[in-house]
This record gives sequence, C-alpha cells and structure tokens, in this order.
Amino acid sequence: RSRVQDRVERTLAMVKPDAFKHLGKILNAISQSGFRINNLRVCQLRKEEAETFYAVHRGKPFFEKLTTFMSSGRIAAIELVAPGAISKWRELIGPTDSNKARAEAPNSIRAHFGTDGSFNAVHGSDATDTAAEEIRFFFSQPSLGKCDLGRGTTLG
Ligand code: PPS
Repeated sequence: RSRVQDRVERTLAMVKPDAFKHLGKILNAISQSGFRINNLRVCQLRKEEAETFYAVHRGKPFFEKLTTFMSSGRIAAIELVAPGAISKWRELIGPTDSNKARAEAPNSIRAHFGTDGSFNAVHGSDATDTAAEEIRFFFSQPSLGKCDLGRGTTLG
C-alpha cells in the first residue's frame, strides 16, 4: 500500500561553506541513504543571490549573518530524488542547531559536520513548493553566481 510520504519527491540539498571540505563524505551518506542525485552544482553565491535564496527570512535578526555566511565560500547545491525525499533528507541532516543535533540525533549530518545554530553544514527544503522554487533557483539560472568552476578546480 502506498503512503503519502512514499511518493517520489525532489528536494534541494545544500552543502554550506563550513562543510564544503566534507562534500565527499556527505555525497557518500546521500548515496548510502538511497537518494538519486539528479543534479549538482558547485557555486560561490554573490551576497545578493544569498539574500534572494533566503528572502523569506528577510527582516529576521539572523538574516545578515546567514547571508554573509552563505556567500563566504563555495557551496554545493544538490537535487535529490527519492520516495519522501523532503522529510527523508531533513531526517538525515538533523535539527537546525548542530549542538541540538549532537544531543538528539548523533548520527545526523549536522551532528557530524556542523558547529552551532549558525554554522550548520547543510540545508534542506521544507516543503514541495519551496523545493521546486529552490531547485529552479540553482538549476534554471545559467548566470547564477560564480558557478561551475572550471577544469582543475580543487573540490575541498
Ligand atoms: S525560522 O525563523 O524558524 O524560520 O528559522 P529557522 O527555520 O530556525 O532557520 C531558517 C534558516 O536560517 C538559519 N538560521 C541562522 N543562521 C545564522 N545565525 C542564526 N542565528 C540562525 N538562526 C537560523 C538556519 O540555519 C536556517 O537555514 P537553512 O539553510 O534553511 O537550514
């Protein structure tokens, strides 16, 4: 019997600048968990692009810190496909605050690779509409940021 959470979905995962050096290990965890990687792009976002991506948080006290952090180094944007991909990925990454993740979900990606509530290693879309929007942001904008760095680029 098929369940709602088992519908095939896509979600946008991001490896943030603080965890970019762990990209290989994170891709390994993704593949071990049964996701299909449909698309992947390495970028350094411009500040304005990080502000657009996180526009829903404009005006919140952490907005400046978050968008400065997210434009501070290379990120990997990864389109993941799996049954129930959105909640499955959020389950794998753990709570937003990495300290909480270490206490409550010690095997999660944020527990392993994040620092605290600001530098938390990874992002995951929270719903089907935001997932679609975030996937479009990265994969339907050819001129985005400093992306798709050339031949010879060292990954992490
Ligand atoms: S909210 O207000 O409940 O929607 O916020 P939350 O879901 O907890 O977090 C939304 C994103 O903002 C990041 N965040 C922060 N960044 C830097 N500093 C602080 N203090 C901070 N608090 C929240 C948080 O990591 C979420 O980023 P993403 O990339 O969506 O995981």
